[in-house]
Amino acid sequence: MMIEPVVDIHLDGAWIDQALREDVAQGLTNQPKELPPKWFYDDRGSELFDQITRLPEYYPTRREREILEREVDVIAERSGADTVVELGSGTSEKTRIVLDALAATGWLRRYVPFDNSEATLRTAAAELAEAYKGLAVHGVVGDFEHHLSHIPEGGCRLMMLLGGTIGNFPPAARKDFLAAVADAMVPGDTFLLGFDLVKEHDRLIAAYDDPDGVTAEFNRNVLSVINRRLDADFDLDQFEHEARFDSDQEWIEMWLRSSRPQRVTIGGLGMTVDFDRDERMRTEISAKFRPENIGPELASVGLAMERLWTDAREDYALTLSRMVG
Ligand code: SAH
Ligand code: TRP
Repeated sequence: MMIEPVVDIHLDGAWIDQALREDVAQGLTNQPKELPPKWFYDDRGSELFDQITRLPEYYPTRREREILEREVDVIAERSGADTVVELGSGTSEKTRIVLDALAATGWLRRYVPFDNSEATLRTAAAELAEAYKGLAVHGVVGDFEHHLSHIPEGGCRLMMLLGGTIGNFPPAARKDFLAAVADAMVPGDTFLLGFDLVKEHDRLIAAYDDPDGVTAEFNRNVLSVINRRLDADFDLDQFEHEARFDSDQEWIEMWLRSSRPQRVTIGGLGMTVDFDRDERMRTEISAKFRPENIGPELASVGLAMERLWTDAREDYALTLSRMVG
């Protein structure tokens, strides 16, 4: 029997507008200017990200799928989970690999997708409830930097963070986030984490600067989110997409470069912002990892790493760790 999905909403329009106002007011007065990446994913942004995952240059999704398909029985067995909680679940496509394996064990009861993009989450929740009869889908629309304590309790849980999303946190925020994830877990729960690895710079940059300009459009989309929600007048045609690799920090940086001197008005903030020609505003980082550093990071929040797998080319990695009591 199909079970109707339940969706809890912790992000209403007022919360989003307030958080966006604070982030934009703060970021645009920084030097260099900066915009926080969580605002990429409105409906259009989620659709563009979905296109990114299909680009030939964007290898992470395919590598992650390769590892999942190869190791999923071990993941299912070691997790012993009846509940899968997925942070930043997006379209929940790769999730099916894990759900299939857990369904085969007979343990699977519940799937909890957690995302800040309500429309994308609702669509995914409906599709999965339809595809997996008897699966209770309990979605949470929230910000995983604020609302992890609202994850429904109970069951033996496999928590997942896929897609290299861990790399989008600056180091201090990453530590806080991992601590909050560990806090939401109970002893015996497991955590499946997917992350991209340091590699040749040209392949890294190509993954974030495709020739068709899908990534560029995704990057500029953050400006249209601000235009719409905060009554601003960013001219998207006057900002160029740039991806660079910072080899000291070992992260990709995404920038928007103003192609001419311009003044932008943000009505909702009663604020004007001036850009010089070629002035660059940072919109996102995507950290690349060395496998030997992940275990200690997990251990620092009480997660014991049990497995680390890479794809055949060693482009990407997954770890499975366990909350110790
Ligand atoms: N797991 C999918 C999607 C990764 S993209 C995959 O592997 O392909 C990152 C996802 O995290 C998007 O769906 C985005 O909406 C969500 N996200 C980004 N910042 C978030 C935040 N602060 N809180 C909750 N979800 C967030
Ligand atoms: N988590 C993805 C990553 O770091 C997000 C992403 C992919 C992204 N392409 C992007 C973010 C382009 C900003 C711009 O790979």
